[in-house]
Amino acid sequence: MSRKTTSDLWWKNAVVYCLDVATFFDSDGDGCGDFVGLTERVDYLRGLGVNCLWLMPFYPSPNRDDGYDIVDFYGVDERLGTLGDLVELIRTARDRGIRVIADFVVNHTSDQHPWFRSACESRDSPYRDFYVWKDEKPDEQPGDVVFPDQEDSNWAWNEQAGQFYLHRFYSHQPDLNIANPEVRDEMAQIMGFWLNLGLSGFRVDAVPFLIEPIGLPEGAVVEPHELLRDLRAYLNRRNGEAILLGEVNLPPEEQRTFVGGEDGDELHMLFDFVGNQAMYLSLARGDATPLRETLRAAPALPHIASMARFVRNHDELTLDKLTDDERQEVFARFGADAGMQLYGRGLRRRLPPMLDGDEAAIRMTYSLAFALPGAAVLFYGEEIGMGENLAIDGRLAVRSPMQWSAERHGGFSLVEDPDDLVRPVTDGAFGPRHVNATALRRDPDSLLNWFERLIRRRRESPEIGFGTLTLLDVEAAPSVLAHRCDWRGSTIVAVHELGGNAVEVQLPVDDGEALVDVSTGEEHSLPATLALPRYGARWLRVRRAGQRLPP
Ligand code: GLC
Repeated sequence: MSRKTTSDLWWKNAVVYCLDVATFFDSDGDGCGDFVGLTERVDYLRGLGVNCLWLMPFYPSPNRDDGYDIVDFYGVDERLGTLGDLVELIRTARDRGIRVIADFVVNHTSDQHPWFRSACESRDSPYRDFYVWKDEKPDEQPGDVVFPDQEDSNWAWNEQAGQFYLHRFYSHQPDLNIANPEVRDEMAQIMGFWLNLGLSGFRVDAVPFLIEPIGLPEGAVVEPHELLRDLRAYLNRRNGEAILLGEVNLPPEEQRTFVGGEDGDELHMLFDFVGNQAMYLSLARGDATPLRETLRAAPALPHIASMARFVRNHDELTLDKLTDDERQEVFARFGADAGMQLYGRGLRRRLPPMLDGDEAAIRMTYSLAFALPGAAVLFYGEEIGMGENLAIDGRLAVRSPMQWSAERHGGFSLVEDPDDLVRPVTDGAFGPRHVNATALRRDPDSLLNWFERLIRRRRESPEIGFGTLTLLDVEAAPSVLAHRCDWRGSTIVAVHELGGNAVEVQLPVDDGEALVDVSTGEEHSLPATLALPRYGARWLRVRRAGQRLPP
């Protein structure tokens, strides 16, 4: 790829913003966010500098899993507006240089979906074979259940059907039968429908669960990855620039197959769950080693594919890939209260309160995640330093309404009664009186304005999005992660202090004339010694003879 064509593989250098329409901005005062409200706030996102918007599920749903339980794949939840309002949003976002992707949740449907209802009614229903049935409950291993506080098996009895059905998530989310070609056709058709309405791709929910042939007869699915290859081929026949960003929380050695190995013909991007967990362990210990080792062990990806880096998402901060002892270290540091923990494996918290509102630490953490190769993904509200609301049940604690101002309900809604809000607003030290977008916009040194500059720098640093990662040896300073991203003769060096102690580091970089700080322009001649304050973060560009650096 030439330096000129950075828009071709646009996703590799993307900054993605994830939000739930229902909790973002309520335009009509009914207590629930809507498409019209989000459309009004597109310029806020444009100002922030993100270039891709990931919408959490907006489909009709009984909302027993916040929309991840769908009853109609071709519609929108009427609380959010109309299909027309959604298309208008997509168009407005596109006008501001923002592509829109959406959750694609086809591992399962809601048990209220007409397919499942019909399937339960009779063994002769054309939809019976859309789901996975058994007369006897199959044997299960402990640990197979995703939501152990609510479910104790992946099989539930349906009285009307007279059989057990498979559900990897809640029992109200029956799994679809991927061995059925009609189910596969439906999946492709759903993609095609939304692409035609203007989406630029999908965040694919629960990918390993989607393709696993669990409960199916021997040989029913010979090659599970074929489903991903087929969907990818279909997607890109319909729209060459559309992407699949997959939720694949698997160990490094299993990740590569999900992008299609060397062929790169399955998912375009994978969320970096393993790196994310190692980052929290490093932060808890004040030692960059776990993260450094994890990055070192990461699989090489084909040119077309990439990782998606994130700090927090809409689910619990899962720590399932750490050992029990490591997980306890992270719990002790970031969520010692049992009420902050979930399923014994995660934390239902946002970053700012986990770091006790320490802005240097918050900025360093985001700077670090955004300095690693691949796309950067930001969960709404993190840019203003919002906190979770532990009064909200389970994982939803981090999905409280966006805090726009110090006004009532954080300026999210004009509804009178707080009980009519889709979800309670966060209160206390991280509530809207202290943390809101309006106040932060007016303060040039605020976290929000810092994020705007971070994202701008990130977008202007294609070395990070497209480049190759090399870890630099600064083992004399164990709390520091130093790495470089090289791309087409240009280099960014990034240095982050994770322990909260001021340190000096010698950077082993000798292939240029100087290192130039991308924020301040400060020059460090080589060999460079850098003084980092506690939780310091620096992005530096290597200056080479005859090279003109970006402004
Ligand atoms: C994914 C989503 C989660 C949802 C689950 C079932 O893990 O991130 O929010 O509950 O899938 O769809």
